[in-house]
Amino acid sequence: MYNSTPDTLIIGKKVIYLPTCHSTNDIAAEIVHAGLFEEGTVVITDNQVKGRGQRGTVWNANAGENLTFSVVLTPGFLPIQEQFLISQITALAVRGYLGSYVPDTKVKWPNDIYMNNRKSCGVLIENSLQGTRFSSSIVGIGVNINQQVFQNDYATSLARETGLTLSLTEEFHKLLKFLDAYYVRLRSHSQHDAIRSEYLRHLYGYQQDVKFLHKGNITNGSVTSVTKLGKLRVRLATEPEELEFGLKEIEWVRD
Ligand code: BTN
Repeated sequence: MYNSTPDTLIIGKKVIYLPTCHSTNDIAAEIVHAGLFEEGTVVITDNQVKGRGQRGTVWNANAGENLTFSVVLTPGFLPIQEQFLISQITALAVRGYLGSYVPDTKVKWPNDIYMNNRKSCGVLIENSLQGTRFSSSIVGIGVNINQQVFQNDYATSLARETGLTLSLTEEFHKLLKFLDAYYVRLRSHSQHDAIRSEYLRHLYGYQQDVKFLHKGNITNGSVTSVTKLGKLRVRLATEPEELEFGLKEIEWVRD
């Protein structure tokens, strides 16, 4: 059971808890379409049976061991060309939360969070537009908290990295505070450049030698920046000039 939080300004003032559901992003979308929501409403479940990941993938999380939830935002103040800022603040908020336990916590572009080089959180953001403005943004977050066993060896959880067993409700409230603080910053236009710099500071591969899969070959390179539209700029050892990539155009290769 998850309750609303008194400690935030916008996110989590209303929490809808479902013991089981298919996908919290889908439930949040239904609520948005019905017009029955206030900004910051959170849909959370203990057992998400059809979790969706980025690029049509599936998000699996053991029931009752992790946080799987979606936040409904209405960032009408943000020009749509700046929508990558929503990814950036979400990634930074989760990174800040997980980083309070594990120092080596990085954002892997666009918005995966890695602890000790293993994935511990995925984010799926689904925006709806009305003309040139956002009517809603559904921010779906899956954070591995107490799960110990994973299907692949590059996934991890807070419990695995710290040796602790954590209270899901307490961790949910801690994470909401980070999300709320970053969303409040996003609402202040003067914070946008600071958010972009902070994102770069925590970005895996930024000004560091890492490996990419590019055109079928594994190549060394480093991230030089991320554009306002959210494209990754990379200097590859095999290419004479810096290149810019969108989703699906380049892949990370694990060390
Ligand atoms: C990814 O890494 O591919 C993104 C995973 C996003 C998973 C979360 S869990 C809560 C929300 N509901 C979903 O169906 N997906 C997101």
